[in-house]
Amino acid sequence: MSGKFIVFDGLPGSGKGTQIKKVFEYIFDKDKKFDNILITDEPTNGPYGLKIRELFKQQKTSDDFKDELFELFALDRQWHIEEIIKPALGKNFIILCDRYKYSSIAYQTVQGTIFEKVFSRHKDFLSPDLALIFDVSPDEAYNRIGNAKDGKRKDSDKFREKIFISNLRKYFLDLPNKIPNEKIKIIDANLSIENVFSQIKSEIDLIL
Ligand code: TYD
Repeated sequence: MSGKFIVFDGLPGSGKGTQIKKVFEYIFDKDKKFDNILITDEPTNGPYGLKIRELFKQQKTSDDFKDELFELFALDRQWHIEEIIKPALGKNFIILCDRYKYSSIAYQTVQGTIFEKVFSRHKDFLSPDLALIFDVSPDEAYNRIGNAKDGKRKDSDKFREKIFISNLRKYFLDLPNKIPNEKIKIIDANLSIENVFSQIKSEIDLIL
């Protein structure tokens, strides 16, 4: 079994975290020899990821630090690919990655960086075996964020406002058209946890 790189990306409040855990359990239960499963996420805890979190703490409006964040997210991703993703693929790990370049394309464009610039900064970055883009209506996303059980303030609060979420959505939904050579699937995350999982399961079964 060769390694696989699977990305979970999309709107906040779309239930990515819940589904990543379910996929982890599914892959593990399906065949116990898949014990090399890695869950990883962006921004990372590497040197650039930590700088990103520092900037989030200082953000007063969603477009603050747009140039710095554009570059830091790309550098963080390069670090992630070289230090974590490629070594794990080399050991045949199945990698479940929470957010990747698709987030930069949507978030940094909505922050105000020109789409073509964000797109071309990422065009040579490693393509995953499968990218699942979680779509949910902005109202539902906003309600879910507000009702999140932990109720904790997030560093990235300025990116969780309703208007920002609505603007993100069109970039996420357009990804299959913009990057037709990659395996990108839009997942309808408005539905129940089990229904969302069954959509994902059929995509995962195709590549494992
Ligand atoms: P996080 O607290 O993990 O939020 P979430 O639960 O929504 O994933 O912080 C990540 C934030 O960083 C989130 O608001 C999305 C944003 N982000 C970008 O703006 N660009 C990127 O390239 C990535 C990976 C994340």
